[in-house]
Amino acid sequence: MTPIKRIGILTGGGDAPGLNAVIRAVVKCAWNSGIGCVGLEDSYDGLLEFDRSRIIAPRDVTGILRLGGTILGTINTGNPFDSIVNTSDGPRPYGERVIDMFHKMGLDALVAIGGDGTLAIGHQFCLRGIPLVGVPKTIDNDIVGTTNTFGFDTAVAFATDAIDRLHTTAEAHHRIMIVEVMGRHAGWIALYAGVAGGADAILIPEIPFDIDIVAERLRARDKWGAKFSIVVVAEGAFPKGGKVTLQEAANEKHVERLGGIGAQLCPAIAQLTNKETRNVVLGHLQRGGAPTSFDRVLATRFGGKAVEMIKQRQFGCMVAWDPPDIITRPIEDIVGKTKTVPMDFDLLQTARALGITFGD
Ligand code: F6P
Repeated sequence: MTPIKRIGILTGGGDAPGLNAVIRAVVKCAWNSGIGCVGLEDSYDGLLEFDRSRIIAPRDVTGILRLGGTILGTINTGNPFDSIVNTSDGPRPYGERVIDMFHKMGLDALVAIGGDGTLAIGHQFCLRGIPLVGVPKTIDNDIVGTTNTFGFDTAVAFATDAIDRLHTTAEAHHRIMIVEVMGRHAGWIALYAGVAGGADAILIPEIPFDIDIVAERLRARDKWGAKFSIVVVAEGAFPKGGKVTLQEAANEKHVERLGGIGAQLCPAIAQLTNKETRNVVLGHLQRGGAPTSFDRVLATRFGGKAVEMIKQRQFGCMVAWDPPDIITRPIEDIVGKTKTVPMDFDLLQTARALGITFGD
């Protein structure tokens, strides 16, 4: 077996706090094992041309542990595998070009840090013989097979802080505040931040809501003297018999963009409760900024394990957190699936027991 001397690292999909912590861990752990690293810019696009990659040594990752974003850049496109791409050698099928350049760059393995989309593309490369290890990432926490992804804790911490701030202004003005959070088609961020922030209603994609039930609960609060309320709504939540609100449908450049449910709910809730209501969309603030200590540690553990897997040639797998251990899972077992909030999840049941309504 030829020794592993050089690995490529890429980050794909929407950024998540902790990406740089993974890159740093991979570079340092690899370096200390005699393996060099090449950083690939903007996901798999970094394998299209030589000038979209660069050697990264420990000195290049010094100080990035606490930084949000990714020093490698990222893109959130659909799956480009079968598309034709313009290269310095003329138009080429994307997948073929990437595989060709992987070999020309002298890489022995690839670490792909990304969400379900990036891992699904990675799986296609694995099937074509590219030795690849996956590191799951997303603030949405919706990747199956891992209890948490890094970035989720930071997003929840930010959203909780925002809800705390909205509480004081809601109370002062006797208003209802609606807070729309991210999460795509899973309600993890809404559930965790809603419970942590003491919300009165939490609307998640897993439970289609009835606005009359939500309004009834908010009116009841008014009656017993709580003159304000907080409603946390996941961007993927939708009413019973209704549809998810999209800002933009999927196209050849981008996956579908969710959002706008908070703005839809705002006038309806105001009318049904006869209370002043305001809508706040937290948006990309949830993805920016420094990772929490939890996310830094999880990301570092993921990076260290990814290098171990490469040394043991355990390709086609991703790292995963199965508390208290970091384990590995075949990528093929997780692609195309979404980890949603289970109906028997204890936090959901406790939230209900607390009197939080989910609109059902
Ligand atoms: O998957 C992470 C995420 O932040 C989702 O919660 C959100 O729907 C999406 O990415 C936004 O993507 P973009 O940054 O491309 O608008």
